[in-house]
Amino acid sequence: MKLLNLLKAAILIVTMLSCIRSKNDREIVDIVLERKVDSVLSMMTLEEKIGQMSQLSGLGEFTGPLIAGDSAIEAVKQGKLGSMLNINGVAYTRQIQEMALLESRLGIPMLFGYDVIHGYKTIFPVPLAEACSWDLESIEKSARVAAIEASAAGQHWTFAPMVDIARDPRWGRIMEGAGEDTYLGSLIARARIRGFQGDDLSSSNTIAACAKHYAAYGAAEGGRDYNTVDMSERTLREIYLPPFKASANAGVATFMTAFNEINGIPASANPMMRFILRDEWNFKGMIVSDWNSIGELIPHGFAANKNEAAILAMRGGVDMDMQGNVYSKVLLNLLKNGEIPESQIDEAVRNILRLKFQLGLFDDPYRYCNEQREAEMLLNAIHREAARDMGRKSIVLLKNGNRLLPLSKSVRTLAVIGPLADDADNILGGWRALGSSEDAVNLLSGIREAVSSHTRVLYEKGCDIEGDDRSGFKNSIAIARRADVVVLVVGESAAMTGEAHSRSDIGLPGVQLELIKEIYKTGKPIVLILMNGRPLAIPWEAEHLTTILEAWQLGTEAGHAIADVLFGDYNPSGKLVATFPRTTGQVPIYYNHKNTGRPAENSLRFTSKYIDTPIGPLFPFGYGLSYTTYFYTGLTLSSDVLHMSDTLKISMQLTNTGKFDGEEVVQLYIKDHFGSVTRPVMELKDFKKIKLAAGETVTVNFLLTSGQLAFYNNHMQYKAEPGDFSVMVGTSSAEYLEEDFKLVW
Ligand code: GLC
Repeated sequence: MKLLNLLKAAILIVTMLSCIRSKNDREIVDIVLERKVDSVLSMMTLEEKIGQMSQLSGLGEFTGPLIAGDSAIEAVKQGKLGSMLNINGVAYTRQIQEMALLESRLGIPMLFGYDVIHGYKTIFPVPLAEACSWDLESIEKSARVAAIEASAAGQHWTFAPMVDIARDPRWGRIMEGAGEDTYLGSLIARARIRGFQGDDLSSSNTIAACAKHYAAYGAAEGGRDYNTVDMSERTLREIYLPPFKASANAGVATFMTAFNEINGIPASANPMMRFILRDEWNFKGMIVSDWNSIGELIPHGFAANKNEAAILAMRGGVDMDMQGNVYSKVLLNLLKNGEIPESQIDEAVRNILRLKFQLGLFDDPYRYCNEQREAEMLLNAIHREAARDMGRKSIVLLKNGNRLLPLSKSVRTLAVIGPLADDADNILGGWRALGSSEDAVNLLSGIREAVSSHTRVLYEKGCDIEGDDRSGFKNSIAIARRADVVVLVVGESAAMTGEAHSRSDIGLPGVQLELIKEIYKTGKPIVLILMNGRPLAIPWEAEHLTTILEAWQLGTEAGHAIADVLFGDYNPSGKLVATFPRTTGQVPIYYNHKNTGRPAENSLRFTSKYIDTPIGPLFPFGYGLSYTTYFYTGLTLSSDVLHMSDTLKISMQLTNTGKFDGEEVVQLYIKDHFGSVTRPVMELKDFKKIKLAAGETVTVNFLLTSGQLAFYNNHMQYKAEPGDFSVMVGTSSAEYLEEDFKLVW
């Protein structure tokens, strides 16, 4: 590492001197780190500094529109590229790293990033599914496994977690997040960041995380990806920003800016990077654009050309230009013409170099290049079991009339029908990294492995996911007639959610509903299994079928996980984190809505409702059944008056009144009956996932303080206001016990 070795000695001396006066370990670490960063910065030319601010994609995989630009490899050799994405495997990353270290003047190590969204090689349930587990420990473990595998394969940085709140299931990227609730989304963001980053970024089995897409990307008008976002500052700060703030508080190493504009200013040039992220939240990490989102300031109509785009993005505070070739093309001239101060360049390069030091790349650029670890860690049995466990916990039981589930493993004849039954690809979902269908267990295989040797498993695909080919109906009806039970497996392809995959109609695609109706006519008991990446509008199915399991896209171990639930080896405990509408026309529909002056009421004409659809969602936020039943009783508050400085103690008794042991997510909501601005009809403030044996009763306790009742008032001050409140404790946002209290000064 040429000059940098000399530099190391200099850094050591400078650091020794500067530590003499410092007060504590943390400060010493920070001082040392800043000295190292400054020392490297001081040796860099302008071209090398600007090079660090550019990231280009490897040729193997593009995750956005192709942008003409320099060959990444040449730029690496010339020390004019700081980072690459979509470079996979120890061999390839080592090769690129060697070019940077041995061929460029300073030998500054490269930073490799990749979309490790729900697993690297062992693919876990899509994030929306994982969120339905409400199991923060398991969600953290999922990210931990992803980090272990990605770091073993040469990755330093994942572009995850996606923490965008989504209230519109037409938006394909709802699949990548934690649903519609801000409180739950904030906790899940923190869990995922802890899983990815661990306690030490320089460890060879942790990776830098990236809170994205800052901000409010999920509020795209019409649920159309990349579309306009326009909202009040109050909605922005109360609904969309908290998961990003939670990410900053959790120590996330990087942020990624969103494609969308927010109230007229595109996110990649929006002052909220500085006045909120940097100034209010004191974020010291690195900010990367999304794929060419700096260049897209031009089509946004916010920049006239690349020069203006670069000036505006730099002023906004974007440190690194992902696959945009804007910074690399125009910053040098802008500097020479005095249109951009070198101090802004230095600030950005410091943020980038600091991350590389934190990752240990200057100490050992090959720290993440270990072929043996790569071979041992990817797709090992422990990781598969973790994916299977996460899969089980992500499943939501939507209906179980006649208690058809769980099925017996010795059922005589089982007909498995549908386009997603014998499919090991779509179960991986979108953003599947290096996941492969060859490694995945599909549902038909999972069922065949689970049932007894006496069970006959019949199978027909029935139809495709899309298209109007009904030729498979006849054989499907025939095997249904021969079966004791039909397992009907329908849903979406992996390509129907994720980036640039919004849908204008969120019903089952193709002729799948027609197939369901044909099988329904046979009169056989049907278990409908949904495999999808968003809430679906399935009113006919919900009205006519007695048994529906929401199995999402559960990843490499999907078939085993679903079979575990189907045959009762695991009692489903999932709860929806995004509302299922009755029709697409009801969207947006979410639980924490405002009441309006004429709240929906069937018996009254002049109220806020549709004349052609019943009021309310098909399945509400927080909803999910179990094979057992739970009885909620005895909701008690320590007082019916809460002083601002006090804590309200809330308790209730929960009984497992059924025959199966199980886990129940007990949810605590509050309702603020009136305020200086209108308030949501209810808001999730806490939850506990409780294990209960059949027949067991436990007391569940919560604490509530006035701080949890704060909101942005009519002066945009974040405060609680005295007044009437209700506490709701229940099994979903639609079924709960309720008690009232007053908040007083
Ligand atoms: C994509 C996505 C972003 C992803 C990035 C790199 O356009 O918007 O989420 O991390 O590009 O693949």
